[in-house]
Amino acid sequence: MRYYGCKTKLLDFLSEGVTETGINHGSIFCDLFSGTTAVAKFFKQKGYTVYANDFLEFSYSFAHTYIKNNTYPSFYGLRKIIKNISGDSNKYLNIIINYLNNLDPIKGFIYNNYCPGGTKKLDSPRMYFADKNGMKIDAIRTKIQEWKDSDTIDEDEFYFLLTSLIEAVPYIANISGTYAAYLKNWDPRAFKSIELKVPIIPESKRDNRAFKEDANILIKRIYSDILYLDPPYNARQYASNYFLLELIAEGWFNGQKPKIYGKTGIRDYEKQKSAFSQKSGVLNAFNSLIKNAKTKFIILSYNNEGLMSEDEIVDILSNRGEVKIFKKPYRRYRSINQDESDKKIVFETLYFAKVYNI
Ligand SMILES: C[S@@+](CC[C@H](N)C(=O)[O-])C[C@H]1O[C@@H](n2cnc3c(N)ncnc32)[C@H](O)[C@@H]1O
Repeated sequence: MRYYGCKTKLLDFLSEGVTETGINHGSIFCDLFSGTTAVAKFFKQKGYTVYANDFLEFSYSFAHTYIKNNTYPSFYGLRKIIKNISGDSNKYLNIIINYLNNLDPIKGFIYNNYCPGGTKKLDSPRMYFADKNGMKIDAIRTKIQEWKDSDTIDEDEFYFLLTSLIEAVPYIANISGTYAAYLKNWDPRAFKSIELKVPIIPESKRDNRAFKEDANILIKRIYSDILYLDPPYNARQYASNYFLLELIAEGWFNGQKPKIYGKTGIRDYEKQKSAFSQKSGVLNAFNSLIKNAKTKFIILSYNNEGLMSEDEIVDILSNRGEVKIFKKPYRRYRSINQDESDKKIVFETLYFAKVYNI
């Protein structure tokens, strides 16, 4: 998935850093800010026992599906609703995903708040999704919830289907990168019909785990061999920039009434603000994280334009061990906040600390 700060293109670089630890497969690799789970999946595939954590619900859905699960759910409860759900998982998973893809569109929360048809009374009707796609998202998300609430699907199955839906949304959203604003003209992408696909679970026999917690709280009760940290590095809050994915993940059911406001209909994210995206809080948060880490190696991804300077980072990490630095230039992710001419090269830096006082 396209995600600000996603490390898909830096996996080899990161892998070199991990090789430096000399820590073998099977050991615990903890991805404490796992986002899309690109890093967690990569190390799960390499045979590590992986813990993935992020405080956002859509990211937790990915972690639950791709990291915690080692096998495909059976969807036993759906047998009474959809025919041919047995045997080869490849076949029945496609049948279930096709069932969702072919639901009749309905006018629900997404249509009523994020599509031009449902918001035509506003001065500027919102254009996040074409009407039909908004209605399909409503139909699919509502059906998944209905199955969950009636115990027709269990938690693994719920997150599996939710992940499939969340992964499909960026391909038809009328945005440029993040959800902080919609485009004023329609991108042709928005008129393609939303299409869910079967999520692919990386193979593993390890006891992999998924968490949805504030990193600074979780760190106090987990042990890992390699602690990988990829916190936000600037003032852009993920909860606001990806509010629509979070809204779709959390839903609007069982009395939940998402508070939305403003021109874009942004969802209230007061409780999901990250200290790592605040100049006033980042050093304290990072310091406390490092102080509480129970691990053999710490690897931090950070960017030379981040809120913390290289010296500040090295100072804090040095309290726990000897620090090495690796740098790699890469092209920046472009978002709505940057214009075409802004093509400055940015350095991704890996800070590596061998911890001597676990
Ligand atoms: C740079 S992104 C991680 C990207 C990820 N490595 C990837 O490849 O997709 C940072 C992530 O940290 C999460 N985050 C921010 N503050 C957090 C906190 N205090 N606790 C847990 N997760 C947090 C955000 O939701 C976001 O997904």
